[in-house]
Amino acid sequence: MTRFDYREKTALITGASSGIGEAFAHQLAARGMHLILVARSQDKLLSLADALGREHGCRTKVLVADLSDPDQASGLADRVKSAGLQADLIINNAGFGTHGRFTRQSAAQERREVLLNALAPLEIAHAFVPGMVERGGGAIINVASSAGFQATPYMSTYGATKAFLLHLSEGLWAELEPDNIQVMAVCPGPVATNFFEASGSPTLKKALSTTPMISAERCVRESLEAFDKGRPVVVPGLSIKLMTQSGRFMPRALLTKISARMLGPKKRKTG
Ligand SMILES: NC(=O)c1ccc[n+]([C@@H]2O[C@H](COP(=O)([O-])OP(=O)(O)OC[C@H]3O[C@@H](n4cnc5c(N)ncnc54)[C@H](OP(=O)(O)O)[C@@H]3O)[C@@H](O)[C@H]2O)c1
Repeated sequence: MTRFDYREKTALITGASSGIGEAFAHQLAARGMHLILVARSQDKLLSLADALGREHGCRTKVLVADLSDPDQASGLADRVKSAGLQADLIINNAGFGTHGRFTRQSAAQERREVLLNALAPLEIAHAFVPGMVERGGGAIINVASSAGFQATPYMSTYGATKAFLLHLSEGLWAELEPDNIQVMAVCPGPVATNFFEASGSPTLKKALSTTPMISAERCVRESLEAFDKGRPVVVPGLSIKLMTQSGRFMPRALLTKISARMLGPKKRKTG
């Protein structure tokens, strides 16, 4: 497979209005790409598009969409085509996490979590991959999470969506290689973004405070370095890389218990 050449190609980034998606927009524009920016917040996308045009001279297109609606996710390909564009690289990044006791979670919110984190990347892949095959190549980077490597009690639904995305990505990495389509999953640990506020959980950041947090810029830089090497999966950040590797040698039940202690309610110290 020929390595992906960024120059003068177009990337579509979901969840481009903040955090990791915004960092992808800056670093891909710096590599010579034009951008299609997707999220719900039109104002943020328009001001990002403006800044990227000024800094990098790239062309940008803003598409406002709620990707927890499967029709809006699958409809992105038609909107891109109608705009006279094509997406050579897709960054499936939009997502959020719920945290807390399962019985206290809203079923509607967890349904949206599954639709956005897992179903939208699948719909988007189905909508865009046939065009990539016809054109003789393309690429997809799916932003999963280190939460996809093992069960994550108190974030069970989130971890399950990321496990789905990780496995989908690895499968497609091998399956689409003959079509010259490069696929990679990004599996970060904690990254300093709006993710913790968006979770609606006041305790999530604290629960993860023993794991070093990296910047969105570093997360994306290390991801693109791995992508350039054709890797199927990248875990940006050394500490979380070591943590995910050590977890592979533990019995699954033990790993799940450790995960529950990290993410679950903390017992009050007495005395
Ligand atoms: N930060 C971390 O610690 C961490 C760790 C591992 C994995 N991740 C993953 O990284 C990805 C990006 O998250 P982030 O950390 O950059 O958090 P973030 O700053 O909260 O960004 C989330 C992005 O997703 C977009 N989004 C949310 N709901 C959407 C919807 N219904 N339709 C379309 N777009 C939507 C948001 O834009 P709008 O609100 O404008 O729609 C925003 O651009 C997520 O998939 C997350 O699971 C994050």
